[in-house]
Amino acid sequence: MRMELYRNGIHDFECQYIFFVIFVLLMDFSLSSDTPESQRLQPAKVIWGVSGKDVELPCDVTPPTPFDSVKMIFWFKDSMGMPLYSLDARGGPLNEASHLAVTDELGSRSYFIIDDQPSNARLRIQNINEKDEGVFRCRVDFINSPTRNFKVNLTLVVQPSPPKIFDVEGKEVISDAGPFLEGRELFLSCQVNGGRPRPSLTWWHNGTILDGVIDSSKDSYKIVNDLVISRLPRNFYGSHLECRASSSHLAGDLIRKISVKVYLKPSKVKIVSSNDLLSVNKAHTIRCETSGSFPPAKLSWYLGGKIIKTASLTEEVTDSFTTSLLTLNVEAEDDGKDLVCRADNPRYPGGSAEDRRQIHVAYPPKVAVRSDSGLTSPVKEGANVVFKCETVARPDPHNYNWYHDGHLIQYNNTAGLEPMGNTLGMMKVTKSSDGQYSCSAANSEGETYSPPFTLTVQYAPRCVKGFEVMRVGALSHEALTVDCHVDALPEVTRFSWTYNTSKGVLPVKGARIHNQDGVSTLHFIPGTADLESLACWATNSVGRQEKPCLFYIIPASNPESPKSCQLRNATNGGIEVTCVAGKDGGLPQSFVLEVSDIAIPAGPPSVTTLSDQGERSLPLFRVLGETPIFRLHSLEPGREYQFLVYAVNAKGRSEPPVVLSKVKVEVPVDTLKENGSAIIVNAEDSPPTSQSLTLILLVLTAIASLLIVGIIAVATILACRKRPSVVRRPSTTRYKPSDDAELSEAGFSDGFHRRSAHYRASLYLQEIDRNSRQDAGPDLILSPTTFCLQTSEY
Ligand SMILES: *[C@@H]1O[C@H](CO)[C@@H](O)[C@H](O)[C@H]1NC(C)=O
Ligand SMILES: *[C@@H]1O[C@H](CO)[C@@H](O)[C@H](O)[C@H]1NC(C)=O
Ligand SMILES: *[C@@H]1O[C@H](CO)[C@@H](O)[C@H](O)[C@H]1NC(C)=O
Ligand SMILES: *[C@@H]1O[C@H](CO)[C@@H](O)[C@H](O)[C@H]1NC(C)=O
Ligand SMILES: *[C@@H]1O[C@H](CO)[C@@H](O)[C@H](O)[C@H]1NC(C)=O
Repeated sequence: MRMELYRNGIHDFECQYIFFVIFVLLMDFSLSSDTPESQRLQPAKVIWGVSGKDVELPCDVTPPTPFDSVKMIFWFKDSMGMPLYSLDARGGPLNEASHLAVTDELGSRSYFIIDDQPSNARLRIQNINEKDEGVFRCRVDFINSPTRNFKVNLTLVVQPSPPKIFDVEGKEVISDAGPFLEGRELFLSCQVNGGRPRPSLTWWHNGTILDGVIDSSKDSYKIVNDLVISRLPRNFYGSHLECRASSSHLAGDLIRKISVKVYLKPSKVKIVSSNDLLSVNKAHTIRCETSGSFPPAKLSWYLGGKIIKTASLTEEVTDSFTTSLLTLNVEAEDDGKDLVCRADNPRYPGGSAEDRRQIHVAYPPKVAVRSDSGLTSPVKEGANVVFKCETVARPDPHNYNWYHDGHLIQYNNTAGLEPMGNTLGMMKVTKSSDGQYSCSAANSEGETYSPPFTLTVQYAPRCVKGFEVMRVGALSHEALTVDCHVDALPEVTRFSWTYNTSKGVLPVKGARIHNQDGVSTLHFIPGTADLESLACWATNSVGRQEKPCLFYIIPASNPESPKSCQLRNATNGGIEVTCVAGKDGGLPQSFVLEVSDIAIPAGPPSVTTLSDQGERSLPLFRVLGETPIFRLHSLEPGREYQFLVYAVNAKGRSEPPVVLSKVKVEVPVDTLKENGSAIIVNAEDSPPTSQSLTLILLVLTAIASLLIVGIIAVATILACRKRPSVVRRPSTTRYKPSDDAELSEAGFSDGFHRRSAHYRASLYLQEIDRNSRQDAGPDLILSPTTFCLQTSEY
């Protein structure tokens, strides 16, 4: 095969080359150093070549000794006997040697390069192809030294398949990988098939190698490099990853480049508004900013752990920057709570960041009055009381005021009132300290009033105002009733009475005492002549009365006549007589109005003269009242009357009586007209006072017989215990008792005490009794029925 090749190509050889080759062959045989055995033993150095590119096959031509030099150089390929390239240096130095290449396709692309360094000498083959693969031998012949052979194995590089990248699910990634989450794991697998020499497979990011370790087994056809980044850093956002497959640097790398999509957590969130004191009175705008999130973060607000939903929010969003404006209305309760601005990446579960701050709220004070040192109402008079105005406020209150029953309390040392800021000191409280206390506190946010604190002050008994010193008229050997009125809190537990006599102060003994509701009533008969005064002392849990209520016993006298009497048309018809009471002469007094006809000699000057003359007009009726005010409805219109008004007490009646003459009811009142005939006392009915003495005598006997009836009447009054009584003349008994009842109208209840009615009535009867005896004209007939009337109105 080798010889055939040689013969086939022999005629192409130049003659010079033929001779040269023959010569070499002869030399070859003579030296017999280039045996096939020695060729086979030498290991071939592998030289990689890339199809289409040039390759250089090294051949060290350095002589073994310095004094030797190269004679000839031959290149053989495989088992070919003919050299494909030769160099003849027999004529001179190596660089002047003549080059000779076999005239075939390979030979035309080959050239031996003699470097300055003989060790770097090499055969360059241009534009190699796979046919050029094989073992090349370089034979170097020296002048003196033995021939040397070098073997080179030229092999072509085979690129692997283009790299493919797969995600964790085994899906091929074409251009974009991900999305991945910042800080979480990234997994990508790069794979190639084949390749000679076995390629390297590497992962690259931004010019640096990340992973150069092959994960597949050494002899597998498929080569795999799995990239695992356990915590993906932020800087992978928007970057690229490369997988490079490299068999030989001669052939270049096969590169697969993908972009990586990364979701980023918000890296920064901040409430940028200053942390001011927030007033409850206005809305506040608070700004929060976040950046670093991809996609842009959503901002939400929390106050005290609860999401703020109602507040108005304004949001601005750019690529990775979000701003939120919160309009916040705070309440006092929000003071000290945490305000949180939270940024959430909607695509990144758990990808959130937050900024928090404690807010401080300015609110008006919350106020309450507390008593200091466990004081509880009620307190005893004379105690010292300290109130404290307790406030919760921000900022601290700068002004306090104190109020007692709504009135501002001023500092008053003499009254023991010391309002000092949030405390109120009250020295030695009195009854007037009683009431409701409140305080107010003010700060920049407003003023607040506390609910009232009710202070009750207990005090020892004291006389009711106007009852401290009383004058009591006494009738010798007649029972006296004295009322002692005291005021106390809590109620009186004990009353005691003392006499003041010339012999000294003695306790009251043997008297009847009745105590009820702060009033002690003493019934007694002043026995000793030198009795000057009575004193009444009351005691309660606070203490004993300091100053007693005093009663000076004075001899009783007749009452003074009422004064300033006036006639007036009553509002609902009839007539009204009003007078002012005079002094009572030391005894309870009552008042009498006598109504009589004007008929005969007008207006007697006084009762005494009347009685003397016996000409006094007999009264039509009398009205008794507790006060000197009378209302009369039963007078006959057009008729003239005369009124007498006087006071009566147990001692007697006032003198002289007040006389009101020519009293006339001018206009008939409609309502009275209807039953007027029944009530009006007619002048014709009353016996004329000018009639004969015989008639008077007749009347006298009638009175005498009716005295017994009078006594019965007394008993009736006692039983009835009613107010004003009416005394009628017998001649006017045209009235039926039932009519009298009809006449009753709402009367005088003012100032009239039931308790004393009995007593007064009895006094009055005594007086009437006396008068009737004195007047010698028994002009009164007491009807038992008429004493039970409850009114003084007619
Ligand atoms: C040349 O080298 C290649 C790669 O190492 C090898 O596969 C081949 O067998 C070698 N050829 C010879 C003839 O040694
Ligand atoms: C890539 O590397 C350069 C130089 O090392 C650096 O300046 C740049 O920030 C990097 N880029 C990224 C996205 O990491
Ligand atoms: C202080 O209190 C006393 C006693 O209550 C009173 O008379 C006086 O007017 C008060 N003074 C002032 C300045 O209010
Ligand atoms: C008793 O009367 C005397 C003389 O009038 C008087 O000095 C004294 O203060 C009176 N005592 C009382 C307790 O009223
Ligand atoms: C009562 O009223 C009448 C009529 O209106 C009048 O003439 C008379 O003067 C009044 N009497 C009194 C006391 O006012």
